[in-house]
Amino acid sequence: MMAPKRYPPRNPSWSMRREHLMCFLGLSLLLSSRGCLALAAASSKPRVALVSGSNKGIGREIVRLLANDEQDWVIFLGSRDESRGNQAVQDLMKDLDEKNQKTSIVCCPLDLTDPTSIARAKEMVEQQQGRLDVLINNAAICFNDPTLYGKVPHTPFEQQADISIRTNFFGTLQVTQTMLPLLQQSDYPPRIINIASAAGRLAILKNNQDLVEAFTSPKLQLTELESLLQQFVQDVEAGVHASKGWPNTCYGMSKLGIIAMTKLMARDYVDSIMINSVDPGFCATDQNNNQGVLPAERGAVTPYLLATITRDKFVTGKHFFQEQEIEW
Ligand SMILES: NC(=O)c1ccc[n+]([C@@H]2O[C@H](COP(=O)([O-])OP(=O)(O)OC[C@H]3O[C@@H](n4cnc5c(N)ncnc54)[C@H](OP(=O)(O)O)[C@@H]3O)[C@@H](O)[C@H]2O)c1
Repeated sequence: MMAPKRYPPRNPSWSMRREHLMCFLGLSLLLSSRGCLALAAASSKPRVALVSGSNKGIGREIVRLLANDEQDWVIFLGSRDESRGNQAVQDLMKDLDEKNQKTSIVCCPLDLTDPTSIARAKEMVEQQQGRLDVLINNAAICFNDPTLYGKVPHTPFEQQADISIRTNFFGTLQVTQTMLPLLQQSDYPPRIINIASAAGRLAILKNNQDLVEAFTSPKLQLTELESLLQQFVQDVEAGVHASKGWPNTCYGMSKLGIIAMTKLMARDYVDSIMINSVDPGFCATDQNNNQGVLPAERGAVTPYLLATITRDKFVTGKHFFQEQEIEW
């Protein structure tokens, strides 16, 4: 691992932030021959991206970076609440550099827990663009978020499992599977970037080596992965998860599932779709009551780089943190 690099300062004006970022990206470009990520050259055709949960936080910063990229983009800003999504679109469009006038940001209503909303989001992208070049699965819930489900001051652990796994793991999986036909229409080559977390590191399964082997098996099938996560929920709800060696973190298990899903799908779509996961680092957002030590825009840099790297740097099935591949 290399020493942590510079990132844009907390609240500077956009032009200053961009300057810092370009400096930072310059460093990444310079290092590309040593295994870091490198940027793609601009194409005349706008690229098409969908970023789930991008009305705020890290997702919103990913949209901001894409929108201010050299390349023109059509960005579907996923938001489960349409008015919050539209507000974010308005704010981000105001910040667009003059040279990015051909880039557009469109609010795309998308709720991970609602299959109808997922199907409608696909229809919207299909009708407007006919393909998807980049899917960034960013949306997630975490029970550290004081705004989550409003007034409930503390949700018992047994009640956190179903909604956490259903939203973060199964919702993300369903969005991905629904968007696959559109991704397969892309010649970019298409990419899926799954936002994971250090909370989903394999070490959380340290009390059960069989689980480690099951989640990391090179032969793991999607139905088996789904069953493992359903088993976790059942065991938490039955109050037996700890005795079976599961960890005390529903969020962590949902993110571990995302990393396993990334590796499994990368294996199944090898050579055709770039599928990677990213730990964005501990960023100050609503998810942690703004206690994170990094600005949200820092967490957006690696997803942005993965969305824009050149085809000759095709990379898949990897897990990244701050522009470097890391062990799960
Ligand atoms: N912040 C960190 O330190 C950190 C660390 C590691 C990983 N991450 C990951 O980074 C990603 C972004 O998190 P963040 O920190 O930016 O959190 P955030 O500010 O709370 O943003 C989360 C986004 O997900 C959306 N969302 C929640 N439930 C959803 C659902 N059912 N359907 C669709 N969208 C939904 C939220 O929408 P609403 O506005 O409607 O709630 C919001 O747009 C997440 O995957 C998170 O787990 C964050």
